[in-house]
Amino acid sequence: MKVILETPRLILREFIPEDADGLERVISDPETMRYYPAPYDRTGVEDWIARNLARYEHDSYGLWAIDLKSSGEMIGDCGITEQEVDGEPLPEIGYHLRRDKWGRGYATEAARACRDYGFTRMNVDVLISLIRPENVPSCRVAERNGMSLWKETDRMGLKHLVYAVWRHEPSHHPLL
Ligand SMILES: CC(C)(COP(=O)(O)OP(=O)(O)OC[C@H]1O[C@@H](n2cnc3c(N)ncnc32)[C@H](O)[C@@H]1OP(=O)(O)O)[C@@H](O)C(=O)NCCC(=O)NCCS
Repeated sequence: MKVILETPRLILREFIPEDADGLERVISDPETMRYYPAPYDRTGVEDWIARNLARYEHDSYGLWAIDLKSSGEMIGDCGITEQEVDGEPLPEIGYHLRRDKWGRGYATEAARACRDYGFTRMNVDVLISLIRPENVPSCRVAERNGMSLWKETDRMGLKHLVYAVWRHEPSHHPLL
C-alpha cells in the first residue's frame, strides 16, 4: 500500500481493491450520503475504487483512504480530484467519513494535510471544495481548512457552494 501523507492521528494512503468492504461502510450509508443523489451500491463502491486507482495512474493523485493510526482501521477517504466548475478544471479537496467517527476533527486533520500537499507537492494555485449549502459540517471543515466562500455553482441541477483557498492572496490570482 502506498502511503501518501501522515498526520498526528491519520495515515492517508492509496486505496486498494480489498478496501471495498470498509469503503462500503462509509459511502453506502444513506445518512453519510444524504447530500448526494444516492448512497453507493456494491458495484458503485467497486467502481469508485477503480476510478481512483485510474486517477493515481493518470494524475498521480486522487481520493485516498484514511487509516486511523491507533487501530489501523480505514475510516473514510480524503483527497484531491479534478472537478470542472463553470467550465474550468480545478483541484478539489473532498472527504467522507464513517459515521461513527464524525465530530472528532479527523476530516479537518485530513483536509489540512491535503491542502498542504496540493500547495507544496502539486504546486497548484488554488484548492476548492464543492459543498451543498445544507451540508453545514462540511462547510465547517472547509473553513477550518483555511477556505472561504468564493462563489456558487450548479452541479447536477443542484446549487453548490465553492469554497476556495489560494496559495497567494486571491487578488493575485488570474481567475479573478
Ligand atoms: C463532513 C464530514 C467529513 C466531517 O467529518 P468530521 O471528522 O466529523 O469533521 P470535523 O470533526 O473535522 O469537523 C466537523 C465540524 O462540523 C461541526 N459539525 C459536526 N456535525 C455537525 C452538525 N450536524 N451540524 C453542524 N455542525 C456540525 C463540528 O462541530 C465541527 O466544527 P467545529 O469543531 O468547528 O465546531 C462528515 O460529517 C461526513 O463524512 N459527512 C458526510 C459526507 C460528506 O458530506 N462529505 C462532504 C461532501 S462536500
